[in-house]
This record gives sequence, C-alpha cells and structure tokens, in this order.
Amino acid sequence: MAEPRRVPATGTVDSPPPDAEAAPVLLKVDDLRVTVGGGSAEAVHGVSFEVRRGESIGIVGESGSGKTLVCRSVLGVLAPGCAVSGGTIDYAGTSLVNLPRKAWDALRGTGIAAVFQDPASYLNPSVPVGRQVTEQLRVKLGASRRDARHAAVRLLAAMGLHNPERVYHQYPHELSGGMLQRVVLAIAVSGDPALLIADEATTALDVTIQAEVLDLLASLRAERGLSVIAVSHDLAVIAELCDRVLVFYAGELVEAGPTAEVLLAPRHPYTEALLRVASVGSWERRTLAVIDGQPPPVGATITGCRFADRCDFATEQCRSQPVPLTELADGRSVRCLRAQEIALHGAGAEVAAEAGAAW
Ligand SMILES: Nc1ncnc2c1ncn2[C@@H]1O[C@H](COP(=O)(O)OP(=O)(O)O)[C@@H](O)[C@H]1O
Ligand SMILES: [Mg+2]
Repeated sequence: MAEPRRVPATGTVDSPPPDAEAAPVLLKVDDLRVTVGGGSAEAVHGVSFEVRRGESIGIVGESGSGKTLVCRSVLGVLAPGCAVSGGTIDYAGTSLVNLPRKAWDALRGTGIAAVFQDPASYLNPSVPVGRQVTEQLRVKLGASRRDARHAAVRLLAAMGLHNPERVYHQYPHELSGGMLQRVVLAIAVSGDPALLIADEATTALDVTIQAEVLDLLASLRAERGLSVIAVSHDLAVIAELCDRVLVFYAGELVEAGPTAEVLLAPRHPYTEALLRVASVGSWERRTLAVIDGQPPPVGATITGCRFADRCDFATEQCRSQPVPLTELADGRSVRCLRAQEIALHGAGAEVAAEAGAAW
C-alpha cells in the first residue's frame, strides 16, 4: 500500500483561486521551438500554453522531455548551444524572445523568478546566506542596507526558517538541503515577482522535507498571488500544487487540462502510463518506477506520433501522419488520434490520495 503523506497539504487542487479562470493572461507561450547542439537538433517542437495571474501550472514528463528547456527559454537563460528557434513568449505584454540583456536584468527577479533542483549552486559558498538575501533586496528593490537586512530576516522567517537571526549568519554548507531551498526561495521572492518557476525544486529533498517545501510554495502562491510553473517528473507533486497540468513527451505537449480531470480521466496513453508508474510502490520508491521503452532520441525524424513505439493502442495511421493537438471540452486538449475511441484508466485517485489532494 502506498505510504501516506506525513505532512498535511495545503493549496490542493480542490481549492483553486475562485477567479483563476477569469484572471488575465500573464505568460503566453506560442509554438515554442528550441534547438540544442548549436542548432543541429530540435528538442522542443512547438509548445503552446498560457499562465494566468494567480494560476499554478504543472509541467510533467519523463527526464529529457524538454521541461527544463521550456523553463530556461521563459527565463532567458538557455545554456550555450541551445536557442529558441521559433515561436513567441509574451510576458505581461513584453516579448521575451530576443529581449535585450538590460531589459532582462530588470525583469528577472522582479517579474519572473525561478528555483531549481540544486539550491547550493545558486548561492555563494563563501558569503553568509542572510547577506545574500540582503544583497538581492538592495539590488532589486533599492532598499538601504539597514532596511534590507531587517527585510531579509523577516523573509527568512516567512520561508519557515526557525531562528532566522541565526540562519542569517550561517554559510550555505552549514544548512540542510531543505533549508537551502528555503533560502533560495527567499531570494526568488525578494523582488516580489509575479511568476515563479520551480523546476524540480523539491526533487532532491527527502520525502518529509519535500512535502514541507511544497506547502511553502502553496502558501507563497496564496499569500502573494503568485503565478507558478511547477515542473516535476512526479505527478503527485503536480497533483498537490497545480490547477492545470501540461504533459510533455519527447519535446511535445501531448495532453493538457485541469489537473484533477487529467489525472482522474487521462485521454493520452502516455499520461495513463505515467499514472500507472506513479501509483506503483511507496512514495519513496515510486520515482524509480519507469515506463517500458525509450523516447525517440533528440533529433530523430519522426513523421507520426512520437509515443507510438511505446503505445499499446498505436496503429499504422498513428505512425504515418503528424498528430495534431486537438481541443476537447472543458479546457482540455490531447495529441492522440485514438483519444475518442480508447478507454483509459485514471490511477489519479490513488496519486491524489497519496499527495493529500482531496478531489
Ligand atoms: N545544453 C544542452 N546541450 C545539448 N542537449 C541538451 C542540452 N540541454 C538539454 N538538452 C537535450 O534536450 C532534451 C530536453 O532536455 P531537458 O529540457 O533538460 O529535459 P527535462 O527537463 O524534461 O528532463 C534532452 O534530450 C537533452 O538531452
Ligand atoms: Mg529538467
């Protein structure tokens, strides 16, 4: 039997902000294409989605499906050799593709902020963590040193760090992974951003701490009205935090919709497969479960459905023609020729129960 969560969850999908649907669009990504290897191969093949103000979007998919490339494109921090090769990214009316560096410096942190899997790599190992928060407050908000120092201590406390005065003077190596992630979150929200991107932000943490940091993300979102893009290979993380979910496979969006509906009644065989492995084993072991087979390598030429070789339902037709993303009712969409005729099982109820989400 699945091990129950030890920490009660807040901000579950049964309580989205009441006006999430009506809120204005904050981020609009349209037909985004990203190449790697100096332009030699396309790794993200035309991804489109929107994030509304106050909304929490989950991106889920196996390792290598393009989640991080999409996040880094939105943040303007793609690694050397990677580039946006097509499509548009609009943030609050500003086009982010080819945005000049100066404009990025003004936007990053105050408009869009991010936390990644490895918090230590975002901190200077030789500077006490509180001073790093203070510096960010001075840079982003232009606060005086004294005001910034007080604000930094308050911010560390708001991130759930006990004894923030003491933590302020500690060096990164003196703090646990969970504490470091809280410090990085303090820095991320120090400029009062509207959009927070959390790319596998809880993946490296042990299970109890993972739940605590998720709860912190949920309460930051509620208190600050933040929009969140949460990325995880783990559906339970998404189930707990997100209003809507985007399922990525091999650089494509294969299914999207309200989290509860997608998890309880998936329409794409890949989503069902993800749910199947997600509902096997305990919370700790589950992330090691895998779907049989491999996604196609980056740069492979594929005419039809990219999932066909791993799909129990694939026909010749699936392999011989491009499969469009089709809109269904209720804000859902799916990229599967056979979505209307095949019966899939949602293991989402078990995942949700495990995640503490009460649908
Ligand atoms: N800097 C890079 N150079 C070459 N290939 C890359 C680079 N970053 C990502 N890729 C390739 O692009 C694909 C998507 O990567 P990524 O977005 O990191 O996946 P995810 O975050 O879903 O695990 C992977 O196949 C990966 O090998
Ligand atoms: Mg990644």
